[in-house]
Amino acid sequence: MCGIVGYVGNSQAAPILLDGLSKLEYRGYDSAGIAVYDGEKIHAQKACGRLKVLSELTHDGATMPGTAGIGHTRWATHGAPTGSNAHPHFNQDESIAVVHNGIIENYQKLKKYLEGKGFQFVSDTDTEVVAHLLDYYYKEDPMEAILRVMNRVEGSYALGIMFKSHPGVLYAVRKDSPLIVGHGGDGNLIASDVPAVLKYTRNVYFIQNEEIAVLSGESISFYNVDGEEIAKEPSTIDWDINAAEKGGYEHFMLKEMYEQPQTVRDTLSPRIKGGMVDIEELGMSDEEIRGIGRLHIIACGSAYHTGMTAKYIFEGMARIPVDVDLASEFRYRNPILAENDLVIIISQSGETADSLAALREAKSRGIKTLGIVNVVGSSIAREADKVMYTWAGPEIAVATTKAYSAQLIAEYLLAIKFAQVRGEITEQQVVSYLKDLQKLPEQIEMLLSNKGKIQHFANRYISAKDVFFVGRGIDYAISLEGSLKLKEISYIHSEAYAAGELKHGTISLIEEGTLVASVLTQEELYKKTISNIVELKSRGAFVLAVTNTGNTEIEKAADYVIYIPQTNRWFTNSLAIIPLQLFSYYVAVGKGCDVDKPRNLAKSVTVE
Ligand code: M6R
Repeated sequence: MCGIVGYVGNSQAAPILLDGLSKLEYRGYDSAGIAVYDGEKIHAQKACGRLKVLSELTHDGATMPGTAGIGHTRWATHGAPTGSNAHPHFNQDESIAVVHNGIIENYQKLKKYLEGKGFQFVSDTDTEVVAHLLDYYYKEDPMEAILRVMNRVEGSYALGIMFKSHPGVLYAVRKDSPLIVGHGGDGNLIASDVPAVLKYTRNVYFIQNEEIAVLSGESISFYNVDGEEIAKEPSTIDWDINAAEKGGYEHFMLKEMYEQPQTVRDTLSPRIKGGMVDIEELGMSDEEIRGIGRLHIIACGSAYHTGMTAKYIFEGMARIPVDVDLASEFRYRNPILAENDLVIIISQSGETADSLAALREAKSRGIKTLGIVNVVGSSIAREADKVMYTWAGPEIAVATTKAYSAQLIAEYLLAIKFAQVRGEITEQQVVSYLKDLQKLPEQIEMLLSNKGKIQHFANRYISAKDVFFVGRGIDYAISLEGSLKLKEISYIHSEAYAAGELKHGTISLIEEGTLVASVLTQEELYKKTISNIVELKSRGAFVLAVTNTGNTEIEKAADYVIYIPQTNRWFTNSLAIIPLQLFSYYVAVGKGCDVDKPRNLAKSVTVE
């Protein structure tokens, strides 16, 4: 949530800051601002709404001279999305400017303290206390002031800071919010995420918790919490720069849906060797795998939905008991964990605050942790005992599609490996499962190529009031994701239900014409769900069914049928989700919604 950038070097800073912010807008987009030192003072421009308003205001930065600056794109936490709450924030005489991502949890106490000392506040944000607190502690040495502020503030922060008295220098510090430093030829940069600096450099330093970076045009140095200089090695980022561009697609979401076949291949192929699953990267011995008592899968949102699917597979195929928890619940419910349990944290960004806190909770109790993460070098990837990367590349649209698909693949592979090592499946079964997995990319391509049919159907539902998604077993997990996709981008109210639960309350909501999307990919549950469809239809529902090719019997019960190709019953989620993603996308497009940046949301939820 919120994106920060900074640049110091030989070029005009403002256009670089705006360009960087445009790559971070997925992190928040209710207001934006930049501050540039123009040789005399730190000059700021802020604007409510999307970044393009700020770009227009500053003529793409041309009206703001100066070669050092910081910028911010906001997802409001404290204070409404207004001009005065937009970052950068200043101390009273505007000699210190600050941009912040995170939450200062004790800001009210600090604000009261500072007001008592005569400081006047002009915003409702938690961030403004940082600017005034820096002022309060600043004598001559910015580092000293920053270290003292770090001692006083509680919560999470990634900060970019400028001192007028130290022109040509940027200061950056982080705790539990992401921040990287880019080492460019023409200048140096800070940013919340790699895409913001890729145009200028591929050499990146990852700042760890409670480390401080000091950047000038020519140098970068790092300090620990005691103010001692520390050495750091840069990493080279080998992402394709075009991966973070729309590449001719109308939306990132559409592009990312179309990248799913490749994402599945990239996540799968390196882990199949000699016809078997190879996850040596995890360094888990067979003995360790055999010793696992229980799995705890913990995640948020769509990542949690993949965990729901994985529960059926780990239990059904590998016979390992699984608990699936929402990270925000797990972290506060004092869970019962045993020494031989394994905690699996799933996260695209690797920065989701609740997932990170759940990981730390498990670690603090001495439980082994495994992160399934997309963003290389992110906090969860670094802190988990073991990490399995989903090779989806940068995902920009707030609504996840390709990272979701990659997470499923990682979970299938783990389940197959665990099942084989624990003697629950034979080598022959492994070979057959892997064959099915290898067919998925082509099958997904085929489903994507049928988008016209789904677009046509979606156009009929752009004014729907409520939509229900139902299924049993894995089909229920698919329904959860189908429903989330629809509501988050089209703002249509939607619920997912286990089909068997409908008559325990929800069926009373069905009226003439209510759309119910039913998923029927599990042969042993097929007839049961058909009975539920019949019940729904007799109450007036219009039923869309997503089912396996060959299940033609459904045509007697449902109003509209979408067939998915045959695959093993454990892997149907990877196929059935495609028409549901396309349906949500086309409903949202039909309604004129901002598909990539839905209201009130941000891609990376770094506050709890
Ligand atoms: O980065 P993470 O995978 O940890 O994010 C978890 C959720 O915030 C995320 O999946 C969210 O639900 C998506 N917007 C859904 O499309």
